[in-house]
Amino acid sequence: MELVQDTSRPPLVKVKGVPLIKYFAEMVGPLQSFQAWPDDLLISTYPKSGTTWVSEIVDMIYQGGDLEKCHRAPIYVRVPFLEFKCPGVPSGLETLKETPAPRILKTHLPLALLPQSLLDQKVKVIYVARNAKDVAISYYNFYKMAKLHPDPGTWDSFLEKFMDGQVSYGSWYQHVQEWWELSRTHPVLYLFYEDLKENPKRETRKILEFLGCSLSEESVDHIVQHTSFKVMKKNPMTNYSTIPTEIMDHSISDFMRKGVCWSGWVLGEGRVEL
Ligand code: A3P
Repeated sequence: MELVQDTSRPPLVKVKGVPLIKYFAEMVGPLQSFQAWPDDLLISTYPKSGTTWVSEIVDMIYQGGDLEKCHRAPIYVRVPFLEFKCPGVPSGLETLKETPAPRILKTHLPLALLPQSLLDQKVKVIYVARNAKDVAISYYNFYKMAKLHPDPGTWDSFLEKFMDGQVSYGSWYQHVQEWWELSRTHPVLYLFYEDLKENPKRETRKILEFLGCSLSEESVDHIVQHTSFKVMKKNPMTNYSTIPTEIMDHSISDFMRKGVCWSGWVLGEGRVEL
């Protein structure tokens, strides 16, 4: 794998007013000719909202709860990330070429940048929203370790940018709202990270129903157990440890960091634990 020098921390680039990681911005044009298939499933989230968690749950469902099959490849290969591009690494579109139906796709794009074909084909969408405070903290730590992002600066300055929609993928507020509104006209299962934490079995059952799948009680328990934070953190197929350090530096922060709700906001006086 050959990495070019300038992968590290390029400034964000705006596409239709939405700031994006430079390489991802370059993919928005080519993605417009992406052809969705009616049996695709799209997992859409604002970053750091539980994308990997739900991706693993859905892949386990598709594989009938068979752990061995879910170990066939890292999550970013099993669930291609549509707009992903990074020098020296297969892009999302390249990964897709090797992906058999039924495909599970991932995106963080706001609706204005989404390939139209996904809407035209009425592709089922699972959207996951997470409270903005935990997203901001998780995103700050992710910016530090994932070097395709610009340097996040101090927490205070990052939080200002986050609230102003000047981080990669733009405004959290607009994202969670517009995908909610899409669910009026499009098949969207709108989930909340906090609900998944509270009762993962109940939420997994919702996903099963939305997908029109059924599994035994035992298999559902197995999926819930395998997709717990503790297990996924140790699993190299879900914890992103297979990504080169030049792109994600786990010595700065783990990808699977804390996996909790309302993590750093209990200190009061505006102080947070990062
Ligand atoms: P933290 O940084 O707060 O720990 P995404 O996959 O959208 O990038 O989201 C990553 C966030 O989801 C991280 O949050 C990560 O720890 C958390 N996460 C991933 N898998 C999880 C799981 N099985 N249970 C709870 N949280 C999980």
